[in-house]
Amino acid sequence: MRTALVTGSSGLIGSEMVAFLDERGWRVHGVDNNMRRDFFGEHGDTTWNLRRLEQATRRFEHHDLDIRDRDGVGRLVAESTPELIVHTAAQPSHDLAAQRPFDDFDVNAVGTLNLLEATRRHAPDSPFVFLSTNKVYGDAPNELALVELETRWDYADAAYANGIDETMRIDATMHSLFGASKAAADLLVQEYGRYFGMPTVSFRGGCLTGPNHSGAELHGFLAYLARAVKDGIPYRVYGYKGKQVRDNLHSYDVCTAIAAFAESPRVAAVYNLGGGRENSISLLEAVSALEQRLNRTLETEYVDDNRVGDHICYISDLARFRSDYPEWELTVSLDGLLDQLAEATAERLAS
Ligand SMILES: NC(=O)c1ccc[n+]([C@@H]2O[C@H](COP(=O)([O-])OP(=O)(O)OC[C@H]3O[C@@H](n4cnc5c(N)ncnc54)[C@H](O)[C@@H]3O)[C@@H](O)[C@H]2O)c1
Repeated sequence: MRTALVTGSSGLIGSEMVAFLDERGWRVHGVDNNMRRDFFGEHGDTTWNLRRLEQATRRFEHHDLDIRDRDGVGRLVAESTPELIVHTAAQPSHDLAAQRPFDDFDVNAVGTLNLLEATRRHAPDSPFVFLSTNKVYGDAPNELALVELETRWDYADAAYANGIDETMRIDATMHSLFGASKAAADLLVQEYGRYFGMPTVSFRGGCLTGPNHSGAELHGFLAYLARAVKDGIPYRVYGYKGKQVRDNLHSYDVCTAIAAFAESPRVAAVYNLGGGRENSISLLEAVSALEQRLNRTLETEYVDDNRVGDHICYISDLARFRSDYPEWELTVSLDGLLDQLAEATAERLAS
């Protein structure tokens, strides 16, 4: 039986990955200390998701371990010698990073180093998959010329019709402390590939979402928006006339991308991974799509100032990943994603 280690296993991507691997016969060690609750309060609590996983899986073992615990991480990797490591545990918010810079860097950068080094010592041939972020590009994407359409911004230059690729620079740009700690981790992951020849990948995520997201105002855009619409929570729109664009990928499609890499790993790979143009949506468009689905009107408050470094229009160019892994395809459309989020929000809140 093959064994995997998944960090952040009670979170959105981690939990989807645990279920995905379990269904395919893997034994999975999950690492999560519910730090999302500590970061975001009650809305961020992932206990419900851990309970759901424990019931739904057969060979999943949960470890209430902090990835900052270097010895603990080393012991777990030594004892389990996983054939696949999927590292999704993180502090995921810009705003929170500014309030808690040490926690942000210790979790995102140092925690990743702890896992990389433990993997090098105990499982150096196992694919190491890191969930990085498009925020490693900082606000450089905002330098692109844009056109303002009725409900969204878009790229003015046809060269960006498919979005932003991996050649976008990552330095001399404003990242936020979160983007900087993730960029540090992203570079470490590449370096363990280049320097030690390990099969590592940094997937630079766009908006990754799905019904199992514990959406909080500071993280989990569509999931939180669905909750706000359903629950009548006033929603603040920060700048850009509400026309900021994100591309959205279902967490299941993240798992199939990870599985494709794990089947046929490369060394020091870097891929942008999001929903691409077909799954892109602006904030204004998302509000009206969810209002329709949930049959409610959202109370919005518009704040002139945008979030520091926030992308105006970000669409992931998926060409590099599609070229290396042509069997991968997007299975959940934007409409499908919105339907699922609306349904799950309604159900969870009803219970
Ligand atoms: N969701 C997105 O839109 C998105 C976009 C781009 C990149 N990413 C990246 O993907 C990864 C997964 O994101 P997600 O949306 O599933 O986040 P999430 O917050 O839902 O899951 C992360 C999990 O990690 C756990 N965790 C945090 N600190 C920990 C620690 N010190 N030790 C152990 N566990 C800890 C949390 O409790 C949480 O359950 C993150 O690295 C994130 O930066 C996510």
